[in-house]
Amino acid sequence: MDLFDKLKELHEEGLNQINKAKDEKTLNDVRVELVGRKGELTKILHSMREVAPENRREVGQKVNELRDLFNAQLDEAKEKIVKAVLAKKLEDEKIDVTLPGREAHLGSKHPINIILDDLESYFIGMGYRVVQGPEIETDHYCFEMMNIPKDHPARDMQATFYIDSEDLLRTQTSGDQARVLEKHDFSKGPLKMVGPGKVYRRDDDDATHSHQFMQMEGLVVDKNITMSDLKGTLEMISKHVFGQDRETRLRPSYFPFTEPSVEMDVSCFNCDGKGCPICKYTGWIEVLGAGMVHPNVLENAGIDSTVYGGFAFGVGLDRFAILKYGIDDIRDFYTNDVRFLEQFRKEER
Ligand code: DAH
Repeated sequence: MDLFDKLKELHEEGLNQINKAKDEKTLNDVRVELVGRKGELTKILHSMREVAPENRREVGQKVNELRDLFNAQLDEAKEKIVKAVLAKKLEDEKIDVTLPGREAHLGSKHPINIILDDLESYFIGMGYRVVQGPEIETDHYCFEMMNIPKDHPARDMQATFYIDSEDLLRTQTSGDQARVLEKHDFSKGPLKMVGPGKVYRRDDDDATHSHQFMQMEGLVVDKNITMSDLKGTLEMISKHVFGQDRETRLRPSYFPFTEPSVEMDVSCFNCDGKGCPICKYTGWIEVLGAGMVHPNVLENAGIDSTVYGGFAFGVGLDRFAILKYGIDDIRDFYTNDVRFLEQFRKEER
């Protein structure tokens, strides 16, 4: 076959191969084979000796033309492949922006924390400080210092979980009173504190009982504190939490660490005092215990009870939340069901 035929065949075959290459690697192989240093066109140039001298110029020209043509076609084919790859990538990675987004499930403040945070700022505004005692408390602070000695019958009401004979899960935040009383320096002013936190009882859980719940202790000690200071404070708390229209009443009661002792009831939120199943037809719901600090509690902490006196109160925060929001099962506070918690989003401040 003479070189002209060879060139013609290469022309056809080359274009054919270029057209067939569907990816960059194959196309590159084709490029090497056609126009590379050891490619077909180079081979033809090398065999120029076999060409009659008068034809060499024409063969050379044809080889150059063919090289230009191949290069142009190769470039064009490459551009097509690059574009196709990009188009496929865009297609594969396409995002449907019309799909609805996934809703982020944001938690909300726990109803007890809503009340707690609100009460804390309320008391801070009246000059109280907020203290936090340990949940694993000693018998000494939880009971002994609070005038509940080992054989005292009041201990029966507060059965708890013992860690050993001295350490226990506290049944009440009242131990905070003793801890603060021991340290307070009365030359710097009166003692006014609230102590919120978790407490524990050995109770069988049901709609109104939980083995874990929240209390907030309150304590004010100074000279000349009277029962009317206590009454005014309790009434203010009630009105702040439950609203101005809610009636309150104090009933005589008994706590070992106060004398006299009272319990405060608020008029039933459900029937407005008329009587209903929620208030057991009394028209009142008990919300806290309180009283004038027992002299023994002051003396136990090294304070002269003939000079100083005060009042204390213990709020059941779960109770407050149940009454304020009309919740019918205390266990809802502790089972972490987001659907329950989300209902209080509008109450957050
Ligand atoms: N610690 C009591 C309880 O858990 C509540 C209480 C009553 C606290 C009277 C007080 C108080 O500070 O004065 O039942």
